[in-house]
Amino acid sequence: MKLLFLGDVMGRGGRRAVAERLPGLRSEWGLDFVVVNGENATGGMGLSGEHAQGLLEAGADCVTLGDHAFDQKDMLRAIEGEPRILRPLNFAKGAPGRGHRVFSDARGRKVLVAQVLGQVFMKRAFDDPFSALDATLRAHVLGGAVQAAIVDIHCEATSEKMGVGHFCDGRASLVVGTHTHIPTADAQILPGGTAYLSDAGMCGDYDSVIGMEKEEPLRRFVTGMAKGRFSPAMADVTLSGVYVETDDRTGHATRIEMVRQGGRLAQAGP
Ligand SMILES: [Fe+2]
Ligand SMILES: [Fe+2]
Repeated sequence: MKLLFLGDVMGRGGRRAVAERLPGLRSEWGLDFVVVNGENATGGMGLSGEHAQGLLEAGADCVTLGDHAFDQKDMLRAIEGEPRILRPLNFAKGAPGRGHRVFSDARGRKVLVAQVLGQVFMKRAFDDPFSALDATLRAHVLGGAVQAAIVDIHCEATSEKMGVGHFCDGRASLVVGTHTHIPTADAQILPGGTAYLSDAGMCGDYDSVIGMEKEEPLRRFVTGMAKGRFSPAMADVTLSGVYVETDDRTGHATRIEMVRQGGRLAQAGP
């Protein structure tokens, strides 16, 4: 299968770039399954039900969230009515929606998608991501019940992300990090056959501080005081993420390429 994962969509500029460019990439690259992280797509904070539909209509088969999952209050209800939106498995006990789902691609092949939150340097103490992932992967065996499995590890620390990558090695087709909004350069296939990238980066304007207009964050760093609000930068968006090819029989990755399309970052793609 040919898979594409796009990192955190940042505000209106990110949504517009996904809507304009994803349909073309889908056909040009012959993509079978696309996952888009939408946790910052609405004003940089969370995702509204309406904006989630926009990402799905643009060509996402699944939209994942993150620590900002329910910043937009209507997502508490919207996620219950739209099974293609996933929140982290370990967000909170009793959180609405779900953290994993098995999808079917156009040819009927089964694709597991799961998301977990890390615990290192995160604002809130989330439950153990490893036991949550273990149960999910044991219930959906790669090369058995599912032909592909994609894990979105949403956290700050690259160490924890690498830990999750090795924990899932051989049991997932792709483990990819989100949340930091900056792409890492360590795309690889782990020894057991799992494609891995510590962070997908964001779909946003990189003339910014992790996607926000740079003036206010810079003021806070320099003076230690807040004066205004954060607002997403929107000028020149790079779609950032990862492209993976898998073997349908084993579910393991056969190729991984970093994706950076448009905007100011050095370009990359399959
Ligand atoms: Fe996040
Ligand atoms: Fe984010």
